[in-house]
Amino acid sequence: MRFETRAIHAGQEPDPLTGAVVPPVHFSTTFAQDAVGEHKGYEYARSGNPTRSALETCLAALEGAAHGLAFSSGLAASDCLLRQLTAGDHVLLSDDAYGGTYRLVAKVLAPTGITFSTVDLTDLKAVRQAWQDTTRLVWIETPTNPTLRIVDIAAIAEEAHRRGALCVVDNTFATPYLQQPIALGADVVVHSSTKYLGGHSDVVGGFLALNDDELSERLGFLQNAAGAVPGPLDCYLVLRGVKTLAVRMDRQCANAMEIAEYLDTHAAVSQVMYPGLATHPGHALADHQMWGFGGMVSFITAGGEPAALKVAASTRLFTLAESLGAVESLIEHPARMTHASVEGSPLAVDPGLIRLSVGIENISDLLEDLEAALATVA
Ligand SMILES: Cc1ncc(COP(=O)(O)O)c(C=O)c1O
Repeated sequence: MRFETRAIHAGQEPDPLTGAVVPPVHFSTTFAQDAVGEHKGYEYARSGNPTRSALETCLAALEGAAHGLAFSSGLAASDCLLRQLTAGDHVLLSDDAYGGTYRLVAKVLAPTGITFSTVDLTDLKAVRQAWQDTTRLVWIETPTNPTLRIVDIAAIAEEAHRRGALCVVDNTFATPYLQQPIALGADVVVHSSTKYLGGHSDVVGGFLALNDDELSERLGFLQNAAGAVPGPLDCYLVLRGVKTLAVRMDRQCANAMEIAEYLDTHAAVSQVMYPGLATHPGHALADHQMWGFGGMVSFITAGGEPAALKVAASTRLFTLAESLGAVESLIEHPARMTHASVEGSPLAVDPGLIRLSVGIENISDLLEDLEAALATVA
């Protein structure tokens, strides 16, 4: 089955008992046993739930992975994976990794004796220099947030494997529709399904996808033992969202491209960051490693922070809010919002930077909205 078909059918056979076409939302926390230890695959809902199984099967199929594990948030998924490390292990982290991931590594793992370095993963020479004998894991995000740099997954995965480390890709921004990290050599894919997978700003969730049976077993143990599992309604919402991922993403990519081109010619904008633009330093790599350039666009206002704050407060359709990846367009000011509280993070965000999460509205309405907002600082 091809991607769009898998999104609708993988893990979602009609219910054998009732014929229900939509996987039922199983709220039951416990499951009847015919005799002690004799059950139908489910005992207790933290350990397993049929709605969660449907989601895990579907998302694993979309990432081209043998195994999938769903969590209550993207950070819960990251936490489960990073707990595989022990004192003395070293992590190589992108220097503009999502702030919450940085905080998890720097503030939660580092005090337990795990060490880390941040590095520009677009620079292979710098990656080799930052590598240590104890490096067990390299954590990639591509495109990065909020500057939308593109990291060569295959090259970093090769480097990691040559040195016996795991290559992890946070695929939240691209989604499996645009980028397949496992096919490019990554070992584990991480998602905040709160974003494009859910797609409607109404559910928080996380996901891990991988091929390795033994690692999957260990992660599954921890998923149950630490217990950061999603509820059945959350699983249902992500599963419903993912059915339309391909059509949403097509529209988001098309809208984002038009917006990037429009901003690129605007006098009030000094720089546009969108991998779809031929002038973007990662354009050729993105063209090779992705099937589309995504729905995120960042730009720097010519008038610096005052202009950026004015524009962010002046749009009507682009709602001023954190998060990303849903059907509605959002605008935010990373220096004061998403990237403000990352104490100690090496990422210095330009105070004139604005990040857009482009939705699926009519492109003319979106362009008119930006035009009016930019006119306030022209
Ligand atoms: C790239 C990326 N990874 C992980 C996360 C964390 O996900 P969650 O907020 O679902 O815990 C986020 C959240 O913004 C994100 O943008």
